[in-house]
Amino acid sequence: MTEVKVEMTGNQPISILIVDDEKYICNIIVEALSTEKYDIVAFSDPAKALTHIEQNSVDLVLTDLVMGEYTGVQILESTLAHHSDATVILMTAHPTVQTAISVLRKGAYDFLMKPFRLELLKATIKRGLEHQRVIRENLHLKGQVEFLKVVGAANTEMGIDDFLAMVARSCKNEMGARAVGIIEIDPMSKEPARKVYAGDEETPLDVVLDNATLDRFTYTRSAKPIIQKEEVVIDGCSQTRISISQPIFVRRCFHGVINLLIETRFDQLTPGQIDVLMLLANSAAAAIANHRHYQEMRTSYLQAIKGLANAIEARDEYTAGHTDRVTWLAELMARHMGWEDQRIEHLIMGCTLHDIGKLGVPDSILNKPGRLTDEERLKMQTHAEVGLKVIDGIELFRPAVPYIIAHHEWYDGSGYPRGLKGEGIPIEGRLLAVADTLDAILSDRPYRKGADLEQAVSELIKYKGIQFDPAIVDVLLDLLRSGSVDFRATYGRDMDISKLPAPTTTEKAPA
Ligand SMILES: [Fe+2]
Repeated sequence: MTEVKVEMTGNQPISILIVDDEKYICNIIVEALSTEKYDIVAFSDPAKALTHIEQNSVDLVLTDLVMGEYTGVQILESTLAHHSDATVILMTAHPTVQTAISVLRKGAYDFLMKPFRLELLKATIKRGLEHQRVIRENLHLKGQVEFLKVVGAANTEMGIDDFLAMVARSCKNEMGARAVGIIEIDPMSKEPARKVYAGDEETPLDVVLDNATLDRFTYTRSAKPIIQKEEVVIDGCSQTRISISQPIFVRRCFHGVINLLIETRFDQLTPGQIDVLMLLANSAAAAIANHRHYQEMRTSYLQAIKGLANAIEARDEYTAGHTDRVTWLAELMARHMGWEDQRIEHLIMGCTLHDIGKLGVPDSILNKPGRLTDEERLKMQTHAEVGLKVIDGIELFRPAVPYIIAHHEWYDGSGYPRGLKGEGIPIEGRLLAVADTLDAILSDRPYRKGADLEQAVSELIKYKGIQFDPAIVDVLLDLLRSGSVDFRATYGRDMDISKLPAPTTTEKAPA
């Protein structure tokens, strides 16, 4: 495979093909155009011209209309079949209006009457090439529309996977690629962190997602793509396979690559395509950088919040490890209910923060060994509302709101702080209420050992429809019966699931 410099694309000379069975006419035209910077090929044998059209790139064709057994219409049709944006000008000494209309309808750009002045010929060619430039420029603008679509999406809340998939699709559309793969790497470990693919078939997937393409940028800081070409035979036809690897840099640090596989009869990338590819790579780089910043910021926030949650647990000697265990149980249940990753992330945040409002509850109440007085209980119950105030205005923690505010609501409407009822309680709160209670019953306390699973479950069943959403309790039962919950790692002991009650006919399957 040969490597090709990017500068070659877009700066190739304009290729002009002249076809006339009168050789001296070919010679005159070649001579007349010799002062221009054109790449000119002339054929007095139309058969050879047709072969040339099939095998080479052509920008403009000037052809005689009547050439023995061949006609200029054949040249016109073959040219447009192989080079859709080529400009074709026909020449004839025997024009009729009908012929002229006919060839123009078939896609010819213009029609010249022989004999013509060479100045007229030159002017017609210039006009034809200008027309072609405008058409190609429009195609280029279409490419920029792809870019703008991507930029527009960058301002939405689209996830990084979806965004990079969109970049891949835009690259595929703009470059006419058979397949596009984006490999994002972890800049520390240099290992692939994410792979995104756009294409229809499986075979190119291996090519565009091959980790080996990353090696091409090991020793470079150039943002230019590496373009390689090779001749291949597909279904008996000779084709050019172009592979492009466009690096993605974030602040001069290599973050990945966009790989494209293009199979074409003509090894020509249209002007502007590489520019658009680089713009798309910049968009991918910006998205990757934003995503990493977000993740770092989120991790920092979560660590800070975890610190606060730990601070509460340090004050409340009865609940050491409670937050982690509740989060673990709630996540297991949510996954059993089929919640997606994004929702699970919110759940982890919400469960970690759910008792954050206990910061506002005095130690004397939080650590009181005996029963709370009515006044103390009311003070304790403020922790849901206080928790909401603690995170108020922090946009990042907005998903934690339903967990904080609704985990003490009761299904029958007798809970706090708002007395919400049934489905009126956010499902996050209904789910957390079950996990929170299960852990409270299973956990050891200074004054008692943790209950066994059978007792905990019977308590939950007893309060089905009163404190707890019956469907959520059923989800938990279903999960426990499956035997997939490993209690030993979290509670230091195995739980006996053999004594769990058998499913009743009214139990609902996980939603
Ligand atoms: Fe609470």
